[in-house]
Amino acid sequence: MRTAICDEYGIDIPIFAFSHSRAVVAAVSKAGGFGVLGAASMVPEELDQALHFIAKECGGRPFGVDFIIPEKYVGREQGGLDMSALQQLIPQGHRDFVEKLLDTYHVPPLPDASREGENASSRAGLGMAHKRAEQMADVALSHPVKLIVNALGVPPAHIVERAHQQGVRVGALVGAVKHAIKQKAAGVDLIIAQGFEAGGHTGEIATMVLVPQVVDVVAPTPVLCAGGVASGRQLAAAMALGAQGAWTGSVWLMTQEAETHPVVKEKFINATSSDTLRSRSSTGKPARQLRSAWTDAWEDPNNPEPLPMPLHGTLVARARRRIALDASRGGEGGKQLINYFVGQSVGMLKEIRPAAEVLHEMNDECDEVLRRIAPQR
Ligand SMILES: Cc1cc2nc3c(=O)[nH]c(=O)nc-3n(C[C@H](O)[C@H](O)[C@H](O)COP(=O)(O)O)c2cc1C
Repeated sequence: MRTAICDEYGIDIPIFAFSHSRAVVAAVSKAGGFGVLGAASMVPEELDQALHFIAKECGGRPFGVDFIIPEKYVGREQGGLDMSALQQLIPQGHRDFVEKLLDTYHVPPLPDASREGENASSRAGLGMAHKRAEQMADVALSHPVKLIVNALGVPPAHIVERAHQQGVRVGALVGAVKHAIKQKAAGVDLIIAQGFEAGGHTGEIATMVLVPQVVDVVAPTPVLCAGGVASGRQLAAAMALGAQGAWTGSVWLMTQEAETHPVVKEKFINATSSDTLRSRSSTGKPARQLRSAWTDAWEDPNNPEPLPMPLHGTLVARARRRIALDASRGGEGGKQLINYFVGQSVGMLKEIRPAAEVLHEMNDECDEVLRRIAPQR
């Protein structure tokens, strides 16, 4: 299965794999797809190490990096606020609510609460602001990345310019036609049209409806179809909608290489496509994730509403680490509360497999489907 994008990006299979796990990114790129490292929660040193690893593993095969530099967030005018300023903006009522929720579920404090909490909170608070984005772009552009992608807004003009000067392409995720028009005007080379069913931050328009409209409005700029693609049949559908390939996220969470929390993997295996929701309870912006006692608590109208980004991430970072640790140790409360971003395709993901196998199976199935629906053409 080859499309024009395969030649443009030097890949054999038109599947782009978004993952926070460096091993998944490397495995997909090595197997002929295009791995993209999600770097939003990393600090620059971590990104540097991860890209070193991927470049070494890939031995010249192409790969990319993904940031979240949002258009709108608290502290945008200043390019991002420091941790103490962010902390001051968090209402005490919200802190008390989170503490009470964890107490109700008997989630013990972190062993070294002060240090661990501080780390996790700093990442949630600063990782996505413009000042931090500059440093992250510097790191990314010091490695042989072929693509830099941004989510939740138009990437800053000087990052686009610098990337282009180095021959690095720039991509952007969009959830609506008007956003695609803006991204194209900003000089973005690759539009990722991401529908409602996707895992992570997502808009309200379904993939089936969004993709053909975006393809038409940005032509001849290439478009990837994102949201709900986890099989070869869906990859074939992406092509039928006019996309040149698929951009995928959820499917890689269930690979052997993924660093997905074991309790979350187990929950995904037992989940159906009805078990996700768009909730602001993790980052402050609507993101599709698995329903759990955590999302239920934040959906309850009697409880406080999630704060805007990045205050919410700052508020809950420590709590979410506490929950993950408790779940790892078999704590019932942690197991009930823990969740993660995932799309509606979770209902199809029932096995843990090597990433290369998943990639090849999607590609082969797509070939087979296209032959079946269009014989001898
Ligand atoms: C666990 C997870 C985390 C994600 N985090 C990001 C992110 O940091 N940046 C981003 O551009 N997209 C992120 N996304 C969205 C993916 O890039 C992709 O668009 C989406 O997963 C595609 O839909 P699918 O989940 O149905 O495959 C995330 C998705 C998942 C499942």
